[in-house]
Amino acid sequence: MTAPVDATATSAWAELSSIRDSFSPDLRGWFAADPDRAERLSLELADLHVDLSKNLVTDEILASLVRLAEQTGVAERYAAMLAGEHINTTEDRAVLHTALRRPAGAEPALVVDGQDIDADVQSVLTALSAFADRVRSGEWTGVTGKKVTHIVNIGIGGSDLGPVMISAALEPYATAGIEARFVSNIDPTDIAQKTKGLDPETTLVIVASKTFTTLETLTNARLARDWLWAGLEASGAIDGSEEQRTDAVAHHFVAVSTALDKVAAFGIDPVNAFGFWDWVGGRYSVDSAIGLSLAIELGPDVFRELLAGFHAVDEHVRTTPLAQNVPVLMGLLNVWYTNFLGAQSHAVLPYAQQLSRFAAYLQQLTMESNGKSVRWDGTPVTTDTGEVFWGEPGTNGQHAFYQLIHQGTRVIPADFIAFANPAYPLADGGRDVHGLFLSNFLAQTKALAFGKTTEEVEAEGTTGPLVAARTFAGNKPTTSIFAPSLTPSVLGQLVALYEHITFTQGVIWGVNSFDQWGVELGKQLALQIAPAVEGDADALAAQDASTQALLAYYAAHRTV
Ligand code: F6P
Repeated sequence: MTAPVDATATSAWAELSSIRDSFSPDLRGWFAADPDRAERLSLELADLHVDLSKNLVTDEILASLVRLAEQTGVAERYAAMLAGEHINTTEDRAVLHTALRRPAGAEPALVVDGQDIDADVQSVLTALSAFADRVRSGEWTGVTGKKVTHIVNIGIGGSDLGPVMISAALEPYATAGIEARFVSNIDPTDIAQKTKGLDPETTLVIVASKTFTTLETLTNARLARDWLWAGLEASGAIDGSEEQRTDAVAHHFVAVSTALDKVAAFGIDPVNAFGFWDWVGGRYSVDSAIGLSLAIELGPDVFRELLAGFHAVDEHVRTTPLAQNVPVLMGLLNVWYTNFLGAQSHAVLPYAQQLSRFAAYLQQLTMESNGKSVRWDGTPVTTDTGEVFWGEPGTNGQHAFYQLIHQGTRVIPADFIAFANPAYPLADGGRDVHGLFLSNFLAQTKALAFGKTTEEVEAEGTTGPLVAARTFAGNKPTTSIFAPSLTPSVLGQLVALYEHITFTQGVIWGVNSFDQWGVELGKQLALQIAPAVEGDADALAAQDASTQALLAYYAAHRTV
């Protein structure tokens, strides 16, 4: 195992620390003194135009950050990942989500641990596409011969958030008359609401679980199966015999998993299961068979365009020097803010209603990946790690939390994402509404960067204590990501961009961005506490005083 380099012991870290000690950001001054700043710090990444110029960096800082990437081995680690080395050390696995989007026939073929990865990927993609086409055309039917009109995808975390986010983002591409719904939470409200109004005869359930052991998903899958049987029996479509129930499951349930034996044990015919591999992390899996719901709802061609977008960014990262490598630079900026300027969170603010779930998706990607306090060799980290990612689409956020970004005391770097063309071009009395929308994106990044001085406030006639309240300090860092339209390829590019930003930060911090042991304890305790919730006296006695008191409250108030 290659030991992680301690970033804090590098000369680049020392340079950055010394710059930080006398750092006084001045975006107004920097832009005034350097007319080329915007152009120089704007980069093209496939279809994405990425403007880094409103970040709190000088050329000197950027050069030191790039040296930090060099000295911590970002390029070498990326090459190791692409080559299939087992960089997921705690699980002894390769990390090959980038292989999921390699085009058919890519040269040289990727063979890892004796396995032809490309052949495996293409074979599942072909099967998935053929199945999606059958469902979309109506060739695949429910048990009573009716075409599928609704999909219910049951999964959680990485087996849910990607499909949910992309289904909403690419809704204009859902033209086959099939609606996807997503059930994730073990709160029974979720499945109750998502199955409301659905006809079991025209519903296809996808059980998506990498491990096929996740409590939430398997519980919801059983509830969905009961719902299916009850509905089909109530309408007389099946008679409730074992044989007819099995036949109903065969027509209405498919699965996506790496554990096809467990899929069979649940009662889903392995013929109707789509596999993937342990080298795909859950939060990196939307471009595997976990995207089945998308291939059905949006069509296999759209799914392949999405993959092509991912691949374009992978190629950029693989072939571009660190100093021009967009995801690497954005990862380095995050390190600058987190480790040198004290930022604890990072906002992602898409000016696209379609990206309403993008921040939620990024939360799992970034926080499950880099929320670590030991490094990949088991030693403690030497710096702060993972920021809290959060956000909402603009302009909604403007009327909610932007106040704190503009005038609060915290450093909150923010990524603004916008598209030149709307999915739904509408006019308000002849005025293009998308233009008004984009004016807000431009206005916010401008206000955050340049603020409003006391003199400017006073020049408007404001006096007294109101002057201070109306003054904006500026120097609030933002990155603007602009693209022509939110196409499948552009969305793939955006997701891959953040995957590689996350990877860059993880390498610099020396953490394994591909395990998630931190979620295990809660899972184990939930299983231990469940008997206490159900009234088991011994399990109750084994709990701490606070948990016992909460259980007593529950027992006293439970009425249904
Ligand atoms: O709770 C953590 C986690 O393991 C995620 O990493 C994963 O995406 C999710 O649970 C769901 O796991 P599975 O796909 O195995 O059901």
